[in-house]
Amino acid sequence: MRRPIIAGNWKMYKTTAEARALVSALVTTLQDEERVEVVVCPPFTALSTVAPLLAGTRIALGAQDVHWEDEGAFTGAVSPRMLVDLGCRYVIIGHSERRAYFAETDETVNRKTRAVLAHGLVPIVCVGESLAQREAGQTRFFVTGQVRAGLAALGEKARTIVIAYEPIWAIGTGHSATGKDAAEVIGLIRETLAEMDGRDTAEAIRSLYGGSVKPENSKEFMTSPGIDGALVGGASLKAESFVPIVRYYA
Ligand code: PGA
Repeated sequence: MRRPIIAGNWKMYKTTAEARALVSALVTTLQDEERVEVVVCPPFTALSTVAPLLAGTRIALGAQDVHWEDEGAFTGAVSPRMLVDLGCRYVIIGHSERRAYFAETDETVNRKTRAVLAHGLVPIVCVGESLAQREAGQTRFFVTGQVRAGLAALGEKARTIVIAYEPIWAIGTGHSATGKDAAEVIGLIRETLAEMDGRDTAEAIRSLYGGSVKPENSKEFMTSPGIDGALVGGASLKAESFVPIVRYYA
């Protein structure tokens, strides 16, 4: 049985004071949450501020990116060791914004994924097609290609990863995919993983949907077959919208 996850991707939002306020509100409201694993991914600058507030709670800490080396002359980069040191458990890798604006490729996604697995962190690896690719009927081809290249040769730890299917046209646009469409692509991702790593591993991997998830539509995704949760952007920036997404089953 795969445990559902709702992860909040705060992107480049929140000063330390704002981050503290949001996390305090989430801890108070969600402290009894048992059914769903809740993850918050603040910007790097707020990780050490919120880590002590989350210690001993059911809410886990994640980062939004990582470098694959342990240390070195990589100005501006943050290593897996540094994230472990701060108490992170999750790391988002290969978000479409990193791919579009920061030259992330399937190859760097693969390096980062293998590096964080070696440090015992859980990667949340993002894949998803653009509108042009969808309209050209290339969704299957493109997304399975991202999975095959980005998640190649992960070894035994492959079963611990999380995949987020985030169609680019649905991110921040207010136009989410339907539960049916998302479930179809996630089913295809799982079949691809089964071919790569075997059926057992593929069935253990948790798959999230992301792209304009809101309190009004979260149930649709959470109850669609094979979808194990959501990666939430805009709606994770306020407790009033994030908490109802976590409590979709209410
Ligand atoms: P959104 O972002 O919920 O604001 O569409 C999702 C994401 O980019 O992870």
